[in-house]
Amino acid sequence: MRTEKKKTRIRVNGKRLAVSILVLLLAVSAVIFVATRIGDAIREKRDANVPDGPDPAVNEPSNGTGSETNPGGNGGTGNDPNGGTAAPDPAETARTYALENGVLMLLNKDHSVDEAYKAADLVSLDEAICCSDRPAETHFLRAEAAEAFAKMIAAAKADGFEIKATTAYRSYGYQNALYTNYVAKYGQEEADRFSAKPGTSEHQSGLASDISAASVDWALTNKFGDTKEGKWIAAHCAEYGFILRYPKEKSEERTGYIYEPWHVRYVTVPVAQEIMNDKLVLEEYLEKYHITQ
Ligand code: DAL
Ligand code: ZN
Repeated sequence: MRTEKKKTRIRVNGKRLAVSILVLLLAVSAVIFVATRIGDAIREKRDANVPDGPDPAVNEPSNGTGSETNPGGNGGTGNDPNGGTAAPDPAETARTYALENGVLMLLNKDHSVDEAYKAADLVSLDEAICCSDRPAETHFLRAEAAEAFAKMIAAAKADGFEIKATTAYRSYGYQNALYTNYVAKYGQEEADRFSAKPGTSEHQSGLASDISAASVDWALTNKFGDTKEGKWIAAHCAEYGFILRYPKEKSEERTGYIYEPWHVRYVTVPVAQEIMNDKLVLEEYLEKYHITQ
């Protein structure tokens, strides 16, 4: 009887032991499972915080549409071998530079400078590339524009065309005298079509020059546009950073002035190339990039 009881107890204890082992195994499995999940979660979190490096989409070679034709585009080449920031768009860099240096200064019937305005870096052009019958005080341009102008005139000469500046920088007072004379001669309405009121002339900026050639007797005339010199300027001025500021196609209604094939304006090479290639006027270029002044 006692033996029976003992056996029963042992059997019972054996059962309990088996259950305990099972429970223990389940518990250990559960702990291992939970620990594995926590480990995965920690790894995922850590990996998410590591920078991925350049976005492959951003580093695709540019098809060009993000640069000059898209003001919002990053325009980078995306070919930076170091995988760093994409190279800046040259047109955007030039625009920023030109803006910071006042080279995109807008002067027209709605935008003026005061009487005292005079750029600090005006330099004299070589008299050899200026018409000697115009006052020497008008043979100045801002330094960068003067250098580009000299190169343009030298290039024209190398191609067999002699072109000279008639007047470049004009002070407020000089422009006032010109405008007043034109108004007296032609009446204000007519004068306003081709002569800027003092304070509104690009000539006061030191970034513009009138040019002419012997073939039109150094005059400022529409005929200059049809001469070989005028055609050379239209074809090549942008290579030197100049634009034809008052083009035939959209002169009066867009710029406020009649066609002036003799008036060139410095804006830097990339900006000039975009304006000339896309047949824009300066006002349209500035609007395109939301540049207000
Ligand atoms: N002829 C241009 C508009 C000027 O007078 O500045
Ligand atoms: Zn002019």
